[in-house]
Amino acid sequence: MKPSLFLFLTVAITMLWTGCKPSEEPTHQPTPYQMPSPLFFPTVTNIPSDNPMTEEGVALGKMLFFDSLLLSTEIKSLRDIPSSSLLSTEIKSLRDTPSSSLLSTEIKSLRDTSNSSLSCSSCHHPEHSFEYGPEASPDFLGTHHAMLPLINLAWNTNGFGWNGSVATLEDMVYAAYTDPTEINADTAEVVKRLQQSDTYPALFEKAFNTKTITFILVEKAIAQYVRSLVFCNSKFDHYLRGETQLSQDELNGYMLFITEEGADCFHCHGSAGSPLFTTNLFYNNGLDAQSTDSHDRSSVTGDPHDRGAYRAPSLRNITKSAPYMHDGRFKTLDEVLEFYNSGVQNSPYISPLMHHVNDGGVLLTPSEVADLKAFLETLTEED
Ligand code: HEC
Ligand code: HEC
Repeated sequence: MKPSLFLFLTVAITMLWTGCKPSEEPTHQPTPYQMPSPLFFPTVTNIPSDNPMTEEGVALGKMLFFDSLLLSTEIKSLRDIPSSSLLSTEIKSLRDTPSSSLLSTEIKSLRDTSNSSLSCSSCHHPEHSFEYGPEASPDFLGTHHAMLPLINLAWNTNGFGWNGSVATLEDMVYAAYTDPTEINADTAEVVKRLQQSDTYPALFEKAFNTKTITFILVEKAIAQYVRSLVFCNSKFDHYLRGETQLSQDELNGYMLFITEEGADCFHCHGSAGSPLFTTNLFYNNGLDAQSTDSHDRSSVTGDPHDRGAYRAPSLRNITKSAPYMHDGRFKTLDEVLEFYNSGVQNSPYISPLMHHVNDGGVLLTPSEVADLKAFLETLTEED
């Protein structure tokens, strides 16, 4: 063999060989995330087969949820924020100042500035059951509706949002980023900023085995984090597990909650046998004789019977998630109870499960209302 041919063959074989060799890059095997399966919860979850939960995915989703990395530099310098993750702290400190109406303007202007954005945590605050806080009416936030808590959503298979228009949590992340009334961001810009950051490419690699960030992966990571928000340690859960007793008032309240001749709440909001404390279904609970909201359940189904119907929210952590109802009309739990007691409005669309509509409500005595409230308070989890 001529030396030149020998050389050629050696080089060619070496090239082929190295080309076929398994990549030197380490492959990451994310650690499966152990989702709790709390006592009496449904067994069916909405975890999709193409987005299994992993420790790394949940951690990345959490970081994205709280990161206002997407804020434009102009706004950062305008507000003199030293680091990109301070928006939520700042909102909290602003909330404690008397001029909190400034904040509402601020949310709107952050949203409306091109190239800028809010983070999920600008609105979803953990200490308020992942809602904003009592002052946040839809007007305040500039949104169609008041907020919903982020509680045990892995077990909701009926669509997300008050009217159930969003099919999956992955879709909800997309909707939250792109909706002009929520974050109002450009997904390509979000991906660009994440790709350019010092930290994110490595975290995406750990979670999804690729440094190439796509918006689909952003959706997957944040959806994993939202699924990990499991609440199953309220006083009522401890009672269900035989770890504590309820007081007599709380027990009376629970009996009222689960009896038709009592407060009659359980058909729509669950009970010990279904302790999500929501059915996740849609009802018109008699707030108004006439509904004028164009984003109610009927806007999704096209069925006029769904006029004024909304998804029944979970009553877990209810003391932390004011204001109440889709339009945030009630500022306190007392106002909600007053409504169910004597303020229910009849209409052709009211749910047949509002059995006491002809009396205008369930007509409990003041001490029964107090017991019902005491029971509802046992559904809130200590921090
Ligand atoms: C401007 C405030 C705001 C921001 C920012 C925001 N949200 Fe929301 N979120 C809302 C409001 C308001 C609703 C209720 C929407 C409706 O149904 O009309 C909601 C609803 C939701 C729901 C549905 C809950 C349920 O029970 O169906 C999820 C999930 C959610 N948001 C996740 C997110 C995520 C993830 C982000 C960040 C990518 C985010 N949100 C950013 C205000 C906000
Ligand atoms: C027919 C079904 C139904 C019955 C019965 C019912 N609810 Fe509701 N509940 C709903 C729906 C639907 C909503 C949301 C309505 C809206 O925003 O328009 C709601 C909202 C609430 C809220 C506000 C939740 C939030 O996060 O904004 C509370 C608190 C509540 N209900 C408690 C009760 C109590 C206590 C009872 C019994 C006295 C009761 N409900 C009976 C369907 C029902």
